[in-house]
Amino acid sequence: MKSQDSPKQVLVIHGPNLNMLGKRQPAIYGTTSLDEINADLKRTAKTLGLMIETFQSNHEGEIVEKIQQAADTCNGIIINPAAYTHSSIAIRDALLLLKAPIIEIHLSNIDSREAFRRTSMIADIATARIAGFGPRGYVMALKAMAEMISS
Ligand code: DQA
Repeated sequence: MKSQDSPKQVLVIHGPNLNMLGKRQPAIYGTTSLDEINADLKRTAKTLGLMIETFQSNHEGEIVEKIQQAADTCNGIIINPAAYTHSSIAIRDALLLLKAPIIEIHLSNIDSREAFRRTSMIADIATARIAGFGPRGYVMALKAMAEMISS
């Protein structure tokens, strides 16, 4: 983790198929693209005085490596593991390396969909979860993260 006075670093990870947001099942995930979500996050980070990095991958191992690289440097992770939420012990194990807060985020309310989406491999190790607010949830998560980091 960085020293007290350097800007706090937040990593936002988007899992598989989230690069298709805007085109992908818009009735469930909305019409906002991932680029628009990331741009919104960057604007909000500026107003909050945070450094932000966004990362998307369709590959489990790449997400694991990104978390490993960030483990010692980032002050908070916001992660939507997408379909890996329901299956990835590898992503869970990587997140266990972190001392920083973890916000699990989903565009949809995963508890109100198919039964298999109710299982999250990271629910019990995340500090908090935001789900069901669509793309707006990301800015909500970032603001919540800023509060958590500063308190
Ligand atoms: C999702 C929900 C997951 O079940 C699904 O596989 C996704 C997106 C969401 O943001 O609502 O890809 O994580």
